Amino acid sequence: MTIQIPTSNPVDRAALPDVPQGLPPAGLPDVATLARMASEFFSAVPGSATPAAASLGSGGGESLSATLPFTAPVLASASNPVPPGSPFAGPGGAGTGVPGLSVPQGQVAGANLLPSSPTHVLSLGNRVPALAPHAVAQNNLPDTVVTTAPAVEPRFGSHTLGAGTEASPFYFLRDSDARLNGTDKIPLPGSGATTAEQFGLPSVESLQLRTPERRLAETSNESRKTDSFYFLDHASAPKNREPGLHAASAHPPFDVNAIRRDFPILQERVNGRQLVWFDNAATTQKPQSVIDRLSYFYAHENSNIHRAAHELAGRATDAYEGARDTVKRFIGASSPDEIIFVRGTTEGINLVAKTWGVQNVGEGDEIIVSNLEHHANIVPWQQLAAQKGAKLRVIPVDDSGQVRLDEYQKLLNSRTKIVSVTQVSNALGTVVPVREIVAMAHRAGACALVDGAQSVSHMRVNVQEIDADFFVFSGHKLFGPTGIGVVYGKRQLLEDMPPWQGGGNMIADVTFDRTEFQPPPNRFEAGTGNIADAVGLAAAIDYVTRVGIENIGRYEHELLEYATSVLQPVPGVRLIGTAKDKASVLSFVLKGYETEEVGRALNEEGIAVRSGHHCAQPILRRFGVETTVRPSLAFYNTREEVDRMVSVVRRLSSRR
Ligand code: ALA
Repeated sequence: MTIQIPTSNPVDRAALPDVPQGLPPAGLPDVATLARMASEFFSAVPGSATPAAASLGSGGGESLSATLPFTAPVLASASNPVPPGSPFAGPGGAGTGVPGLSVPQGQVAGANLLPSSPTHVLSLGNRVPALAPHAVAQNNLPDTVVTTAPAVEPRFGSHTLGAGTEASPFYFLRDSDARLNGTDKIPLPGSGATTAEQFGLPSVESLQLRTPERRLAETSNESRKTDSFYFLDHASAPKNREPGLHAASAHPPFDVNAIRRDFPILQERVNGRQLVWFDNAATTQKPQSVIDRLSYFYAHENSNIHRAAHELAGRATDAYEGARDTVKRFIGASSPDEIIFVRGTTEGINLVAKTWGVQNVGEGDEIIVSNLEHHANIVPWQQLAAQKGAKLRVIPVDDSGQVRLDEYQKLLNSRTKIVSVTQVSNALGTVVPVREIVAMAHRAGACALVDGAQSVSHMRVNVQEIDADFFVFSGHKLFGPTGIGVVYGKRQLLEDMPPWQGGGNMIADVTFDRTEFQPPPNRFEAGTGNIADAVGLAAAIDYVTRVGIENIGRYEHELLEYATSVLQPVPGVRLIGTAKDKASVLSFVLKGYETEEVGRALNEEGIAVRSGHHCAQPILRRFGVETTVRPSLAFYNTREEVDRMVSVVRRLSSRR
C-alpha cells in the first residue's frame, strides 16, 4: 500500500498550480475525498493498510514524486505540533487551530494527511471541515491541503523546516545516503522504519518498569556514546562552504544550519522578518527533541512518582530519576542524591539560604557576594543577613567588569560563612574565576555557592573540579523547559541540612508528635515536583551533550568575538563589560538613545534583545548606567544575524 507525496523542499511555490478558490490543484483529490481518506486512515486498525491510502496512491500519483510505505501508526508519535490551519490542529493538538494564520516555512504538501497522534485521531472528526479551502494564509498561499503542512513533523525530521540548504531527517551531514532525494522513502510510523528511539525517546520495551541497576547500566552505556551529527569530517567537508559552516582550524566545522533546524521557533517571523533570538541570557529556545520529550511524557508516562505501585508510576519515576542521573553526569556530581530539583536558580539559592544559611549563619557573621550578581544572588542573602544580624560584603569589579581577587582576599576572614558568586554575569557576560574564588573561600573556612544560571549552556561545568559546595542552575537557560532547575550540594552538607518546606514526598514517617524526614534529595523536594519538566531538562542536556558543550563554547566564543568587533566601532556605542574572559553577552548603550528605543528598533526588524536592568542593578550602576541593551548569543545564532543587528544600530547611530 502506498501513498505518494512530493518531496521537494522547500515547496517551489512558483511551481504550484494556480488554485482557484474552493478547488484543489490538478492532480490532487478533492476536499471530500481527502476528508474521507483521513477518516478511513485514522479509523484503521493500527498496522493495517487503509483504503484511503490506496486510493491516494493510485489516484494522485502522476503529479507526485515519492513513494512511501503507508500504514496506520502502531506507536504514537512523541509529539506532533501542527500548523495553524491544519485540520489536525485543535484543543487536543499543538497547533492554534486557526486557519489562515502563518503557514510555516518549508512545507511538504500533503504531509498533513499523515497521522499525527492519537490525540489528533480523536479530534479529527470534528475538524474535517477545516480542510475546506476557506482561508488564505499570510503567505498568500491558499489554505488547502496542498499548502498546509506540519510546522514541525518530527517523524520527517529537519527537512520540513527548510532552514538549511540540504536537509536530512536526522542531520547525518556526512551520510549522503541518509539524505532525502526524489526516490528515498520517508519513514512513517508503522512502516517499521520509525521508532521512538529515533527521537531520543525510550523504546516501548524500555518503558517497562526498570530496576535501579538496569537503569544505571543503561545510562552509563548512553554516556559513552558520542554523536557527531553537527559536524563535517574534514574529508567530507565541502570545499566551498555554505554560510553557517564555521571551520575552527583544529576542529571539524560546526554546522549551525543543522543546529538551527532543530529549533522550530527560529523559523518564526516577527514584523515580517525571520526571528533573530538574541535574548538567550533571559531564556533559551527549545530543540524539537525537548518539545517531543515533554509531549511523549504526557502521552505515555504521566503519573505522580514514587508512590503508586502501577505501571505509569513506574515509568514516571524512572523518567524523573533518570533525569536526576543525567543532571548528575552533566555537572560531574558524585551521586544523583546530590541533585535536588527546584523551580530554577532563584529558588535554588533561596533553598540554600533558608536551610544551610539559617542553620549556619549567625549574628556578626559575614556573607560575601560579588558586584556582578543577579538580584537572585543578592536578595536571599540580604534577607538572611537581616534575619540573623549578619553582614553582606561585596567583591568589587575592575573597569572591565572582572572581579578583583585582591579585594576579595581582603574581605575573607574567620567570620565569613559563605561566598556566593555567579560563574558568568548575566548583565556583562564576564566569566568569573570561580575555581579560585571557591578555593580562597575554603582556605578561609567558608562554604561556596556558584550560580551557574548563565554558565551551563556555554561551558563545561564540573562541580567537583570547581569544588563548589553548592551549584545552582535553571533548565530554561539550557534549552530545557521553564519551571525546572537544580541545586547541587555536596552530599555531607545536604545530609546535615534541615528541610525548608514540609509535606508529602519528603517524609519517612509522620505522627502528630513528630516527623522523620527522607534523606536528600527527597528531603528537599516536598510535594509533587515538576516531573515532566525535569524529564524535559534531561532531554535538553542530552541534546547539548550530543552537540558537545566544548564545540558549543568554541563556536559561541568566535561569534562573540565577531559581534564585538563589528558592534564596538559603531559611533556612539559603549560596551558595558569588556572583561578578557566573556561568554555570550554584549551589553551596550547607544549615545542619544534610551535603551528601550534601541530595543524597539531591533524588534521592528524581528530581532529580540533585552533592554533594561537585567535584574542586576548594582553592576549596571557600577558602570554609571541604569539600563543597557543586551544581545546575548547562543550556538544557534549566526554572523548573518549579528550583521542584521549591527546594521540597525548603525542606522540609529547615523541619525543622531
Ligand atoms: N536572569 C534573566 C536575565 O538575565 C531573566 O535576563
